[in-house]
Amino acid sequence: MSEPLLQVAGLSTQFHTQAGVVKAVSDVSFSLERGQILGLVGESGSGKSVTGFSLLGLVDPPGRIAEGSIRFDGQELVGMPQPDLRALRGKRIAMVFQDPMMTLNPVLSVGTQMTLAVRAHDKVSKQMARDRAVEALTRVGIPDAGHRLDAYPHQFSGGMRQRVAIAIAMIHSPDIIIADEPTTALDVSIQAQILHEMRELAKDSGTALIWISHDLATVSSLAERLLVMYAGTIVEEGPTARVLRNPRHPYTRGLLDSLPATAPPGQNLQQIPGSMPSLLALPPGCAFAPRCSFASEVCNGDVPYLVTGPSAFRCHHPIGEAK
Ligand SMILES: Nc1ncnc2c1ncn2[C@@H]1O[C@H](COP(=O)(O)OP(=O)(O)OP(=O)(O)O)[C@@H](O)[C@H]1O
Ligand SMILES: [Mg+2]
Repeated sequence: MSEPLLQVAGLSTQFHTQAGVVKAVSDVSFSLERGQILGLVGESGSGKSVTGFSLLGLVDPPGRIAEGSIRFDGQELVGMPQPDLRALRGKRIAMVFQDPMMTLNPVLSVGTQMTLAVRAHDKVSKQMARDRAVEALTRVGIPDAGHRLDAYPHQFSGGMRQRVAIAIAMIHSPDIIIADEPTTALDVSIQAQILHEMRELAKDSGTALIWISHDLATVSSLAERLLVMYAGTIVEEGPTARVLRNPRHPYTRGLLDSLPATAPPGQNLQQIPGSMPSLLALPPGCAFAPRCSFASEVCNGDVPYLVTGPSAFRCHHPIGEAK
């Protein structure tokens, strides 16, 4: 069998701070095929963005990849020199950052930035680059895109800035787009349009997507597979429909029960009690144990190993059905 487009194995990323070592990502493994859409979900602070940064070699000191391997199209990205990573970034692997101003430069017009983005990797004329910019902005629903090119980021609304960042990520039809909460600031109709365009890109250009969000409902409508992250670890992974229908990890169940759509009208939403432990001092066993109604002594002592099957999970007391 041929190698997947992206294969992440045993990835751990840590920040060495004065307060101690923040274990932001611990032993994360997954693979991504060409054109596949993967959803990465989990509560705030679970390590989703740091996972995305790690894939692009964008973790700066005091952070570093402590362990693991990231193989992309036959090349190892961990330890790859920065100039080689820069050549891949934007062209073959693009990221839509949670904060669009991480992509956008406030002192350059949107058109200038977009033509620079095109010409960083493709030697085309300025006019051709502008045409591609207009096309990309139109795709993400910016009306009258030709006239908006001369505007500066501060002249766009927050949601429009986010769409510009999405357009820039799409401009080279990269092999992978890592989209970090890309539609959180958008209203539902624009969100639907972006999801549609992303699906088209996956289908037409074979672009694979890693869609990061705390919003399980949006991710589920787009992703074929779900990765559920908790306290830096993937606690469950499987085909989306399967994970939604038959979650095996109590944390996944908790996320599902807290969705507004699952609560009867007028009834309070269920919440997962407690909060995520500090990544500076993770409990010795399962990090979810202190919040889990199924936890027993073994959960507080031993880190659960990965159980593989139709969906994979890390839990001593899985719920649901094994088949
Ligand atoms: N530069 C840094 N220095 C120290 N700790 C950091 C740094 N960057 C991230 N972290 C820590 O890594 C952990 C994971 O953060 P991350 O941003 O990946 O969470 P997230 O799942 O993306 O959350 P959110 O949904 O709020 O965006 C957090 O505890 C965060 O405080
Ligand atoms: Mg984040």
